[in-house]
Amino acid sequence: MERPDNLVIVIFGATGDLTSRKLLPALYSLSNQKLMPEKFALLGVGRSELTSAEFRKRIEESIMDHSEEIEYDFSHIPEFTSQAEYFNIDYASVSDYKRLRSLIESLCKKNCLKGNLIFYLATPPSIYEVISTNLSQSGLEIPTNGFRRFIFEKPFGYDLESSRKLNNTLHGLIKEDQIFRIDHYLGKETVQNLLVTRFANGIFEPLWNRNYIHRIEITSAESIGVEERGGYYDSSGALRDMVQNHLLQITGLTAMEPPSSLGAEAIRNEVLKVFQSLELIKEEDVEKSVIRGQYTASTIRGENVQGYRYEKGVDVNSKTETFVAMKFFINNWRWSGVPFYIRTGKRMPTRVTEVVIHFKQSPQNLFQREPGTLAGNQLIIRIQPDEGILLKFDMKEPGAGFNVKNVNMDFHYTDLADVKIPSAYERLLYDVMMGDSTLFSRDVEVETAWKFIDPIHKAWKNNPQIKIYGYPAGTWGPELSNNLIEGEGLTWRYPCKNLADEELYCEL
Ligand code: BG6
Repeated sequence: MERPDNLVIVIFGATGDLTSRKLLPALYSLSNQKLMPEKFALLGVGRSELTSAEFRKRIEESIMDHSEEIEYDFSHIPEFTSQAEYFNIDYASVSDYKRLRSLIESLCKKNCLKGNLIFYLATPPSIYEVISTNLSQSGLEIPTNGFRRFIFEKPFGYDLESSRKLNNTLHGLIKEDQIFRIDHYLGKETVQNLLVTRFANGIFEPLWNRNYIHRIEITSAESIGVEERGGYYDSSGALRDMVQNHLLQITGLTAMEPPSSLGAEAIRNEVLKVFQSLELIKEEDVEKSVIRGQYTASTIRGENVQGYRYEKGVDVNSKTETFVAMKFFINNWRWSGVPFYIRTGKRMPTRVTEVVIHFKQSPQNLFQREPGTLAGNQLIIRIQPDEGILLKFDMKEPGAGFNVKNVNMDFHYTDLADVKIPSAYERLLYDVMMGDSTLFSRDVEVETAWKFIDPIHKAWKNNPQIKIYGYPAGTWGPELSNNLIEGEGLTWRYPCKNLADEELYCEL
């Protein structure tokens, strides 16, 4: 892989959680793999008063604490941190941006003669506009010889109106091709593998439609609670935090038509078409198509876990959902009539994200099967953890008669020796440095996703009688969510942490 051109990366929100958990370890990992530019400077910008030396120490700690590699080469940390500086800012102060500009210019003289700059806004979204406007007023957004790219973390707005407003402001300052809206799920290797599974294998694509697929299920469960992010989360909730972006993007890649090429526009156009075909859930149907829940106090593996309302930063009367499950349809030629079920939640029994394709049953039930076992083929695309693919199919049990057993055929990424799965942020940061926007959302994509989410929020807001169900921390959410699945005896798949052996050993 090529090394990007020399540059300066400026991270706003440099002392925040995202920077320390994800961005710094990802940049270090890239530098270990020689995928950072030969010369670069890392400029941390934040409200906390820190010296550059203190910031370097923080970088070291975050690499040590949050790197995903188990056996890792930490010996380059001093060299890596030596390229870092810190700048203390008042985000609203115009004069601070003037000083920032001089610092960036001097860093550029040493590191990137072309003036390539990346601005990463890892701050609360409420200050995206003020930072972008001030950067623009200080003239930093204009590409001179090199490039100027802006990365925005999610959430991008909190509804259609605010995302439109943010897009309009940004378009008045910078060009759309300078904007990289991050959805880190798109950086996950296994999310991208959805495209390869579908479009590189001749066997799946002919079946991938309403004629052969009964339903599609997407689960993204987390075992953690809201941790230190109660303040943010309480004004967001699972629908905005996970569904509007990550789950809809996975839906887009699962449901899209083959792109005409692997170019950024070709892929994003197809995902957009899926979003445009989402059947909006009417306000009066929200209660029956969308189930929301909130975790309550419980004991998980002997440990007492507090309820959501008692988490730091959360209102004790909060009605924010920490779980959401819904049924919806994609109204197009390929998917008409096929229900899509998606669910996500915090404090569930395990951390797992997967797509389950349930194929239609064979038309004639010739064979005997154990009572209670369901016939049918499922293709499970495991996004995390134990990344891989599992195909469930029926086979004859050895012996007399024709007893049928549902068995697994599975592939695990860990079986590929010597293959390192890069972290999502590694992949995305590398792509921004290389100027590849395939895995980033365009303005219209984000807005179309909000168009689907807004009516659900409005229904909840306008109809306080729509229930929010409590579910004990450590469970799979309100049991009622099973009622969403149409068909007698059908429920969600209850996945384990491990992909294939759920009947033998289920690590929950
Ligand atoms: C983030 C959400 O976008 O994704 C978090 O804001 C969530 O609430 C996280 O925990 C999940 O990401 P991952 O990569 O751990 O599945």
